[in-house]
Amino acid sequence: MIVRIAPSILSSDFSRLAEQIREAEEAGAHAIHVDVMDGRFVPNITMGPVIVGACRRSTSLPLDVHLMIAEPERFIPAFADAGADYLTIHAEATPHLHRVLQVIHGAQVKAGLAVNPLTPLEIYRDALPELDLALLMSVNPGFGGQSFIPASLDRLSRLRSLRDELNPECVIEVDGGINAGTATRAVRAGAQWLVAGSSIFNQQASIAENLAALSAAANVSSG
Ligand code: DX5
Ligand code: ZN
Repeated sequence: MIVRIAPSILSSDFSRLAEQIREAEEAGAHAIHVDVMDGRFVPNITMGPVIVGACRRSTSLPLDVHLMIAEPERFIPAFADAGADYLTIHAEATPHLHRVLQVIHGAQVKAGLAVNPLTPLEIYRDALPELDLALLMSVNPGFGGQSFIPASLDRLSRLRSLRDELNPECVIEVDGGINAGTATRAVRAGAQWLVAGSSIFNQQASIAENLAALSAAANVSSG
């Protein structure tokens, strides 16, 4: 299976957002990853439904919206209306996970569940049948440009086994510190979609060059 790359616009130049998204699409990105942060669940504030709507008007790629917000149940309709294709909530963000996943599906949106680096993976044993996507955080959520936490590799392979056993339709996504160095190992451990922010949007090379390098590293290992 070809490993997919979902560029995170968190590291993009917001004064040229539509242009950067189009560049990523033309370079072969599979989805656009949108990092929503509320200053409560994580110590940073980023963007909301208005920006998701702007992304929607800029691309036909799926919008993979990562909600790093407390009480995500309050905002599902707004993000669904804005054009999200995937809405991923955090296991740590609400006591009502099952209900929120149902609300997401009720809005005809694909549902994802994310876990922080030390959250037990056991939750996926019950949650996987309800999921379209399982997102394993390989950094602490809140900021782009952090280093990949090595213990995430073992967690990825355990998550991949659970997924293979319980819901082989579910996509395994990894998020945080993914670059041409870490991508190969993450894919070998079981990741299918790679989120990448600072290794795609940076001053060192063009979006297309960065995406090609990451995709090559990711797919060399998938055999
Ligand atoms: C972190 C976000 C990530 C972030 C990844 O909280 O969820 O999606 O943008 O950035 P990099 O790829 O730079 O680690
Ligand atoms: Zn993210």
